[in-house]
Amino acid sequence: MKIALIVSCLLMVSLTGRGQQQAANRPTLVAGIPVNYAEDSVGNYTLPDLLTCADGQRVTDAKTWTQKRRPELLKLVEDIQFGKMPQGPRKIRYNVFDKGTPAFNNKAIRKQVRIYLTDDTTSHQVNVVIYLPGALKQPAPMLLSISFAAYNQTIADSGLYVGNIWSREGKLVRADKPTPFGKMNVEQFMDAGIGYATLYYGDIEPDFKDGIKYGIRTTYLKAGQTDVAPDEWGAISAWAWGMSRVMDYFETDKQIDAKRIAIQGASRLGKTVLWAGIHDPRFKVVVASVSGEGGAALSRRNFGETVAHITDPTRYLYQFAQNYNSYAKQLDRLPFDGHALVALMAPRPLLLQTGSTDYWSDPKGEFLSAVAATPVYALFGEKGPQTNTLPAPGDTSQLLNHLGYFMHEGGHGVLPTDWPQIITYLKKYL
Ligand code: GCU
Repeated sequence: MKIALIVSCLLMVSLTGRGQQQAANRPTLVAGIPVNYAEDSVGNYTLPDLLTCADGQRVTDAKTWTQKRRPELLKLVEDIQFGKMPQGPRKIRYNVFDKGTPAFNNKAIRKQVRIYLTDDTTSHQVNVVIYLPGALKQPAPMLLSISFAAYNQTIADSGLYVGNIWSREGKLVRADKPTPFGKMNVEQFMDAGIGYATLYYGDIEPDFKDGIKYGIRTTYLKAGQTDVAPDEWGAISAWAWGMSRVMDYFETDKQIDAKRIAIQGASRLGKTVLWAGIHDPRFKVVVASVSGEGGAALSRRNFGETVAHITDPTRYLYQFAQNYNSYAKQLDRLPFDGHALVALMAPRPLLLQTGSTDYWSDPKGEFLSAVAATPVYALFGEKGPQTNTLPAPGDTSQLLNHLGYFMHEGGHGVLPTDWPQIITYLKKYL
């Protein structure tokens, strides 16, 4: 039942670009908790000050931010919201089972890699497809996208390995049926001289309440431990950790410029890439699409989904550190907000991509978060939004800031028309 709910919610998301544009994401009662969509009922709130350290010291330079304030905020976000993840894998091995095959009329060279996250080669394997621009003579910068579907379902290329995905019933099944997620146009990246790679998040851990039993986290439980501790990794941390393992592989591949890797994901995977980018500074650029609550949106702004909704145990608590739920009814005690997640990326480039009618995710809350994080980027001489007013749908005036913001006209997801904007951003910052 819960899995069915998750899947039906995923159906509304266009992940690869061609899916349905959702009319208006506006549920009014979720987990028995009313949802506010009225600007005049948002309430007054004061955001925790990003530029004051826990001991009261003011942050006025990049060095104090980097050496003192950032680490203390990072630890809070880790312990409270996403949960601590292990340093790296105990052992990691790669099987490059497709070593370089021309694809898309020679526009691309395709590679396929299987990453074994444990000693057991029969489970916990992550499949990654990589397209390198065929014309590129030097190591390729890449966009690594984390997806809700197996890559053979989202890319029209007959040479792809057919992966497995988790069914509605929580079973691993062959990914040989079409998905509602549409197809990714890989060639647009090749044309821009940017490589494209993607993986299925369920290869790391399935996305349902007891998914831990089947996912990577279970292999790190200590003897006798049946669940993670309240400050340990939820599923989002697990997915983020998995992305770092793909980065481990990139660092071994001479055809890839591992210093120029951008990551992208939408919705819960928008939260995932934000956290992955914060946590693993090897990622140069992050594109967080419709990340919403628990992502870039401000939690203290009572609009759309709230911490109470997202951490309700009947909904998505398994995606977070269990500690997060203890702030559901006392948000004023949360020592950070969405603006801290945005600021923790500084000074690296971050693009927030949202949708104007995605009310549940609160695109305005994401914009205000970027505005509030701008002083941190400014410590490094970098720019965030140049206005306090939410740009109109389709307005690209705030796209190309170091801390960029772009809101399409429409709902929850990534539209085909968003990709050219994202590529323009990547060409500037990657
Ligand atoms: C739900 C959830 C959101 C999440 C979204 C998604 O709507 O409440 O926080 O972003 O699913 O992943 O599509």
